[in-house]
Amino acid sequence: MLTTNISDLASKPFSDALCYPKASPKEARKRINELKTLGVEAILFDGKTMLGSLPILGKGCVSIVIKAETKRGVEVLKIRRVDANRPSMKHEAEMLKLANSVGVGPKISSYTDNFMLMEMAEGEPITRWIKNLRGKGTTARLRGAVRSILDQCFRLDDLGLDHGELSNPSKHVFIEDHKVTIIDFETASTSRRPSNLTAVTQYVFIGGPMARKVRRILMAPSQEMLIPLLRTYKKKHSKASYRKIVETLNLE
Ligand SMILES: Nc1ncnc2c1ncn2[C@@H]1O[C@H](COP(=O)(O)OP(=O)(O)O)[C@@H](O)[C@H]1O
Ligand SMILES: [Mg+2]
Repeated sequence: MLTTNISDLASKPFSDALCYPKASPKEARKRINELKTLGVEAILFDGKTMLGSLPILGKGCVSIVIKAETKRGVEVLKIRRVDANRPSMKHEAEMLKLANSVGVGPKISSYTDNFMLMEMAEGEPITRWIKNLRGKGTTARLRGAVRSILDQCFRLDDLGLDHGELSNPSKHVFIEDHKVTIIDFETASTSRRPSNLTAVTQYVFIGGPMARKVRRILMAPSQEMLIPLLRTYKKKHSKASYRKIVETLNLE
């Protein structure tokens, strides 16, 4: 891990992370000032993704994600890419705040036009977590994690917030033991009809690469039994139709 003072971010190679994919001295200066207003004290280059020679937490279509030190401790800093097709972090920050209001998503602490600070999502992405799952306590751990994902998705549906990328949640659902964190509310919306629960259930139990393993471990019914229940839930997001899904999937 490499700790970098924020004033050093203006020069190479660090400017590549601050102003990806192309830094200009003017933009770098502006962004360093924004980081000061956010109370970011240092940047920690650490993680499994490489940005050139720099280890980082992740890279998305619109952002670079790294660890940062603030007075609250280590947090996650999402940096807007210079070439992102969105003008600021405002929309994502508002969507994440809304998700936080029902206990979903990493807790957001603050944001500016180009940055958002939030809590760290611990663990591994869902697909790898399920793939590596074995040994004592497998069933209980899987049941706990899946139940938590479905509960969170139901709360988002109930709130009227559609995440938008949960039909392939492999990069956006992180699991560590029973703690499940749904990340990336960049494409979230309150104007679409939410389909969080149906999208995730479809992936976990029917269409995703780990579906057979999940069904086998949880002794879940076949898709012929599940699909009508999802259809009923889709028509009306009622608590009763949600309970029925949870019951049928042996997640109680
Ligand atoms: N709060 C977080 N904790 C840990 N890792 C994160 C966090 N937010 C993002 N990441 C990592 O960064 C990657 C890109 O972030 P994401 O929010 O999906 O960006 P984008 O909106 O550009 O797609 C994620 O797949 C994940 O690996
Ligand atoms: Mg993403």
